[in-house]
Amino acid sequence: MTRSALIIGASGDIGQAVARRLAAAGWSLYLHYFQHAAPVEQLQVTFSQQYPRQDFFTLAYDLTDETQLDQISRQLFQVDAVIFAAGTTTYGLFQATTAEQLEHLWQMHIKTPMLLCQRLSAKLAQSAYGRIVFVGSVYGGSGSPLEVAYSTVKGAQSAFANAYAREVASLGITVNVVAPGAVDTKMNQLFDADAKTQLRSEIPISRLAKPDEVAFWIQSLLKKDAGYLTGQTLYVTGGWRK
Ligand SMILES: NC(=O)c1ccc[n+]([C@@H]2O[C@H](COP(=O)([O-])OP(=O)(O)OC[C@H]3O[C@@H](n4cnc5c(N)ncnc54)[C@H](OP(=O)(O)O)[C@@H]3O)[C@@H](O)[C@H]2O)c1
Repeated sequence: MTRSALIIGASGDIGQAVARRLAAAGWSLYLHYFQHAAPVEQLQVTFSQQYPRQDFFTLAYDLTDETQLDQISRQLFQVDAVIFAAGTTTYGLFQATTAEQLEHLWQMHIKTPMLLCQRLSAKLAQSAYGRIVFVGSVYGGSGSPLEVAYSTVKGAQSAFANAYAREVASLGITVNVVAPGAVDTKMNQLFDADAKTQLRSEIPISRLAKPDEVAFWIQSLLKKDAGYLTGQTLYVTGGWRK
């Protein structure tokens, strides 16, 4: 039977790379977006032509809204895997970070994903092997100045995976984090050329990751044979930091 994955943040660069890999590997997909419908609608059209035996749905949701999750989860039929690939950061001194920014980061990266895990756990348990993967960050392990709040919620994703993995292991569900270093996506468009050169000089592999190089590890964790790895954070950083 076709396996089905929910990709939260499928409109983002890493999310799109995950969607391409999973569609090519035979998955049916729920493609989530927030403000940018166009990338997921495009994926839906392309995939429906390329893979007519699989199903592709889109769904919009703001992860800073935790009130409609029952409605969202009722729309999903079969869910064998959930990939949390949405997220944003805020740059600046922690001293200047507002309570509203803290709340948004917490809701988007942690609270709403946790509430969604509660609602999807029964469906994941029905799967022959359920999978949850968070796209975390190296900053969750090593911490970054000027992104203190972001580093904190990314670290919390790893802590959640570590604990929740033990609770749902007997249900056949694994919970892991793929924590990238610097990836060449929209998220890093804020950096100018000099800052990117400086960044590359700090990375032993001397370049940013391509989104597909992160998606590769996410796809690997979804495989049946990956079932003995759970509660882990996999750092995909080109040797940088962690
Ligand atoms: N890029 C990097 O260097 C890097 C490094 C380490 C970790 N990460 C992590 O990787 C994940 C994906 O990042 P990316 O680089 O692919 O970024 P991206 O291309 O900017 O994509 C961000 C995604 O998050 C979604 N999103 C933003 N605000 C949202 C909200 N309020 N509710 C629901 N969804 C929301 C966006 O949806 P819409 O576009 O539809 O609004 C989009 O799908 C994030 O968790 C990020 O922290 C990235």
